[in-house]
Amino acid sequence: MPTTEVSTSRTADILEEKIRSRRARVGIVGLGYVGLPLAVEFARAGFSVTGIDISEEKTRRVNAGDSYVGDVAGATLAPLVESGKLRATTDFSAVLELDTVNICVPTPLRKTKDPDMSFIVSSCQEIARHFHAGMLVILESTTYPGTTDELVLPMLAKGGLEVGRDFFLCFSPERVDPGNPRYQTVNIPKVVGGSTPACTQVGRLFYSQALHTVVPVGSTQVAEMVKLLENTFRMINIGLVNEMAMMCARMGIDVWEVIDAAATKPFGYMPFYPGPGLGGHCIPIDPFYLSWKTRQAGIEARFIELAGYINGQMPHFVVDKVQNALNDAGKPVKGSRILVMGVAYKRDIEDVRESPALDVLLLLQRLGGVISYSDPHVPELRLEGLRLQSVPQEAAAGADCVVIVTDHKSFDYGRLVERAPLIVDTRNALKGATSPKIVRL
Ligand SMILES: NC(=O)c1ccc[n+]([C@@H]2O[C@H](COP(=O)([O-])OP(=O)(O)OC[C@H]3O[C@@H](n4cnc5c(N)ncnc54)[C@H](O)[C@@H]3O)[C@@H](O)[C@H]2O)c1
Repeated sequence: MPTTEVSTSRTADILEEKIRSRRARVGIVGLGYVGLPLAVEFARAGFSVTGIDISEEKTRRVNAGDSYVGDVAGATLAPLVESGKLRATTDFSAVLELDTVNICVPTPLRKTKDPDMSFIVSSCQEIARHFHAGMLVILESTTYPGTTDELVLPMLAKGGLEVGRDFFLCFSPERVDPGNPRYQTVNIPKVVGGSTPACTQVGRLFYSQALHTVVPVGSTQVAEMVKLLENTFRMINIGLVNEMAMMCARMGIDVWEVIDAAATKPFGYMPFYPGPGLGGHCIPIDPFYLSWKTRQAGIEARFIELAGYINGQMPHFVVDKVQNALNDAGKPVKGSRILVMGVAYKRDIEDVRESPALDVLLLLQRLGGVISYSDPHVPELRLEGLRLQSVPQEAAAGADCVVIVTDHKSFDYGRLVERAPLIVDTRNALKGATSPKIVRL
């Protein structure tokens, strides 16, 4: 970990002075769940921030002080926009005026589970057109190790500028946890690694102006791998506990009770919980960036493939539970009214990307179930050819079976147990409730 001062160029000295004095003009490319909170933090720290996004709708809303990200309150955003500290544009020529750029664009997977680098490439091409000496560029999008130095660096260095001397390049993994009130962008420690020691030093200085804790590491590759280790760790442990849940179900053991008891061990154990499957833009996707890269080095990432397979089985496992519960109640799935409660990929947020609820709904519909959903955070849902609208929670009384897929805090679980005839609870949301009509994972 480079903690000592490194010798830097005059360009670095000028940029560092601008950063320290808050005169550096900060740019954030991609104003989504990651980029908008980051833009807000730097504006709050006193920097002049320009957000660049290809979405006219998002830039318009930011400029109107109207937040579309759950973790950014409109009351926080609006004054920053009004005071001129934060603005948004679709025009990449704004880069000409900027000193720093953080890239926070999507990194999805292709259908083949190969990384889709098109967003990084297209945003970097645009940045490169207006790039100039003296800039700091930090990639934050989750990606495979090597991306920053192998893909981004050549695009920026094309004009003959030298990294570490004329401009500075880092990778810093984004660790945002949407909906977590305790840990937000400002107090989640920020890991940063540069292409050169001078790059790391400038990157570290930059983040330390706005965020509480900065953790410098020795290279961009280390920083890229940190994120993949964190998310792969989660994915594999969730896979393990999901397999445990399937084993316990077969043996008639309550997996939730097992986990709670195991979690009393004060060392060497960390509880993970089973559920209907992985969701979101990170955990189901990021580990495959790593397995894709390691395959090129001749190593099969077997833990990742196995956990991916097990986690992918969970929506089917849930649907089997629903089917069996309905059969036991003397009703075939076909023609039964099935209400899915919660479709966001996790509690108290509105994001449905990769949500297992979508698979559960589609599988039930294919079996002939008459599906509906209730989610106060997701008023409307597009599901292949279907367009569904959220129904009130009270609809549970008229359903043949209710499936709790996402355990939003705002659901009234007491009333649900009173009214619903049959409940499949995939999250242990009804912990402590005892009723023959409750079927747990
Ligand atoms: N959402 C999370 O919880 C989370 C957590 C950690 C890391 N990440 C990572 O951060 C990155 C961004 O994720 P996100 O959730 O903020 O995505 P997002 O889809 O919410 O936001 C991305 C934004 O980038 C914009 N965009 C797309 N192409 C662009 C381009 N060429 N130029 C400018 N803007 C462009 C989109 O319009 C969108 O507003 C991803 O790599 C993701 O894996 C996300």
